[in-house]
Amino acid sequence: MSFDSTGKISFDDIYTAPDPRAFFGTLRRLDYQIPQLAKPYLTKLIEVYRAGRRAAEPTVLDVGCSYGINAALHRCDTTMDELFEYYAEADTLDHDALLTRDRRLVRSHAGADSVRFVGLDASAPALEYAHATGFLDETIHADLEANDPDKDQQAILDDVDLVVSTGCVGYVTEQTLTRVARGARPWMAHFVLRMFSYEPVAASLAEELGYETASIHGVFRQRRFASEDEQTRILDTLSAAGVDPQGLETEGWLYAQLYVSGPRGVATRLASTLNTL
Ligand SMILES: C[S@@+](CC[C@H](N)C(=O)[O-])C[C@H]1O[C@@H](n2cnc3c(N)ncnc32)[C@H](O)[C@@H]1O
Repeated sequence: MSFDSTGKISFDDIYTAPDPRAFFGTLRRLDYQIPQLAKPYLTKLIEVYRAGRRAAEPTVLDVGCSYGINAALHRCDTTMDELFEYYAEADTLDHDALLTRDRRLVRSHAGADSVRFVGLDASAPALEYAHATGFLDETIHADLEANDPDKDQQAILDDVDLVVSTGCVGYVTEQTLTRVARGARPWMAHFVLRMFSYEPVAASLAEELGYETASIHGVFRQRRFASEDEQTRILDTLSAAGVDPQGLETEGWLYAQLYVSGPRGVATRLASTLNTL
């Protein structure tokens, strides 16, 4: 097993496979659940945006979307447990048969809800798969940590209403999140592992775009540690960051917090709505 500099196990292989079977197979063993726990919050965010801004079909950008996981949960009215099972049952299918099966799944929910999903990720195979199935309507293949979006990518970002992420802050920082917000000034909601500080993101959005940030009550289980070794490394990272892991990460799970950011007045209003969930 290899670890990244924060002590987290490296899952690079499962993010770049031609289809999501390795992703779901590996993460099922770790009880991965942050997209499932995020789902009601993302649904509420879309609902509030739609009602307040009278946007009948909001465009949601999922940063670090991988195979379009959050879009699939929303669009296909499904759960992570169902997706774990659904892909485990497909282990003998070839790529084309799997694609056909997923397209059918998406089509069977067509028209259930009107949201446009755009996915941003550094993994071309994951984006290609999510777009080919219809989980995502549009994709941005870019590393906005290092580069500004090109003209075409910026045109897509200029139409974004909401920006969400699960399990991605840490891979991306204020560099990416400020770049995606510059054009359309979208509302944002990010589930962030407690080992990563959201403070630099909040500060950069405030300084450049006048955004405010609020945190939502509670903590959210992301997944189990892959090994005692990983837990030890992450407890060290938390302690170096001044975060108390007692009763949370000491019990075997990685935990995330939810932050919302947006133009003046938005974050506080959103936080009070989301805190009722
Ligand atoms: C832990 S996965 C999260 C996937 C999905 N959001 C979920 O919750 O299941 C992290 C994702 O971030 C992507 N990623 C890593 N570096 C990135 C970057 N610089 N820009 C965009 N995405 C990146 C990876 O390819 C991977 O798909």
